[in-house]
Amino acid sequence: MPTTYDLEGQKRIYATWAKFYDRIYQRLLARPQREAVAAACACGPDILEIGVGTGLTLPYFTPGSRVLGADLSLDMLRVANRKVATLRLGHVRGLMVMDACRLGFAAERFDAVTAQFVITLVPDPEQALAEMDRVLKPGGEIIVSSRLVDDGGLLAPLWAGLAPLARAVGWSSDFKVSRLTGWAAATGRYETAHVGRGYFKVVRLRKLASAAAAGRP
Ligand SMILES: C[S@@+](CC[C@H](N)C(=O)[O-])C[C@H]1O[C@@H](n2cnc3c(N)ncnc32)[C@H](O)[C@@H]1O
Repeated sequence: MPTTYDLEGQKRIYATWAKFYDRIYQRLLARPQREAVAAACACGPDILEIGVGTGLTLPYFTPGSRVLGADLSLDMLRVANRKVATLRLGHVRGLMVMDACRLGFAAERFDAVTAQFVITLVPDPEQALAEMDRVLKPGGEIIVSSRLVDDGGLLAPLWAGLAPLARAVGWSSDFKVSRLTGWAAATGRYETAHVGRGYFKVVRLRKLASAAAAGRP
């Protein structure tokens, strides 16, 4: 998976990846994607999926959900659009070109915001998180799944050993879980609800219901 911090470069790369992305990643990413989607659906029906790509995750949402998908790459979205039509995914209410750092939605619009295998590709992850926070209702969750690195623990040396291999196939090898949980703690309006295990992790950050009364910093 490519790692570049140039948005136009991202678009060019994903114009190519769009053609064969599903064949490579459908099975590989299914476990964390299903876990993230289940957590999002538990928050409520209005869900924003950032970096929705070819829409691999879209069939996993419950029929009662109302999902909007945003992505930088029109080529990836075209594949997602075909999937929505072919599989008749009526819960998908719209797919749009959008940068994760500049979301064109009103404040507190969604019950959950998911970002799957995209946060490590965004030039300014904290700005993307701030945007997710802006559009998320109090009590909702930001749910991130990605290749995320533990800050310590028994498996840390194993992941460190695998880092050159990860880089060779384009996976991020240095995006730490603590970058997400640290951001959440620094806002004073989020709690870390869950940090998954394994090579691909799901991290859930819950916006406190009291965040509505507390307002924005
Ligand atoms: C590895 S794919 C993941 C696609 C999908 N979320 C999945 O789990 O299969 C990364 C996607 O993020 C998109 N992307 C990269 N940078 C982005 C940004 N700044 N804003 C929105 N989407 C972005 C890419 O165009 C691509 O479709």
